[in-house]
Amino acid sequence: MGKDRNRIGIFDSGIGGITVLKEILSLLPDSDVVYLGDCARLPYGTKSPRTIIRYSLQCGQFLASKNIDMLVVACNTASSHALPALEEALNIPVIGVVDSGSRAAIDAGGKSIGVIGTPSTIRSGAYEIALRALVPGVRIHSRACPLFVPLVEEGWCDDAITEQVAHRYLDELLHQGIDTLLLGCTHYPLLKQVLRRVAGEGVRIVDSAVSTARVVAGIHGTFLPADGARSVVYYLSDVSERFIELGEVFLGRKMEYVYEVDLCV
Ligand code: DGL
Repeated sequence: MGKDRNRIGIFDSGIGGITVLKEILSLLPDSDVVYLGDCARLPYGTKSPRTIIRYSLQCGQFLASKNIDMLVVACNTASSHALPALEEALNIPVIGVVDSGSRAAIDAGGKSIGVIGTPSTIRSGAYEIALRALVPGVRIHSRACPLFVPLVEEGWCDDAITEQVAHRYLDELLHQGIDTLLLGCTHYPLLKQVLRRVAGEGVRIVDSAVSTARVVAGIHGTFLPADGARSVVYYLSDVSERFIELGEVFLGRKMEYVYEVDLCV
């Protein structure tokens, strides 16, 4: 008995996962997707590993209740801490963003890589482990950038204040002579214009969205969706107009189905 739908579940603490969703939709435009943004409990990146695992399991279980066939953890913080717990709890493929982001940085030719992310992602050392598994001798300079997520959520993606903050975080990495800046947080691609100006043209900027979408397409492509309504449905633990405005601008499409959900029940 074959399934007639193949549904992808994606979650992030907020709007950052939209950067991954966008790339998935560009490779698999007919996808049937359920997106969960745990906006009410954002940020994850300043929380303890235990809390991040607990929240991630609640997100994964909520999406599993929507009959997804694969889970994309479009949050580096959750990917850094909760992948094994999610894999154990759910009986479907679970795809994180850290391995694909690391692969993208190495494939782009990175030899001296600046990794930026939330405090919790940087503290976990997940990127060092993933990058060194690919190239043991790669040079890595890591920096937590805790103010970037609130700036993105505020919608100040291309703003003079954001640029000042970016200098504060990145100047030291740039002085260390990095050739690649790896965006280890799915919110950060929304800051690309600012990051490009601050990093200059000589530094490659790499994120995990495209490479994660390729992994998803590699699995999903083996069983194309059957006919039927294909849609993207958004569940948010706190619905705000700003999320929808920013999401629609970035995705370049309307967010038609948005529902609020309480993940703590
Ligand atoms: N977008 C999430 C990530 O990739 C982090 C946002 C947060 O701190 O909640 O790590």
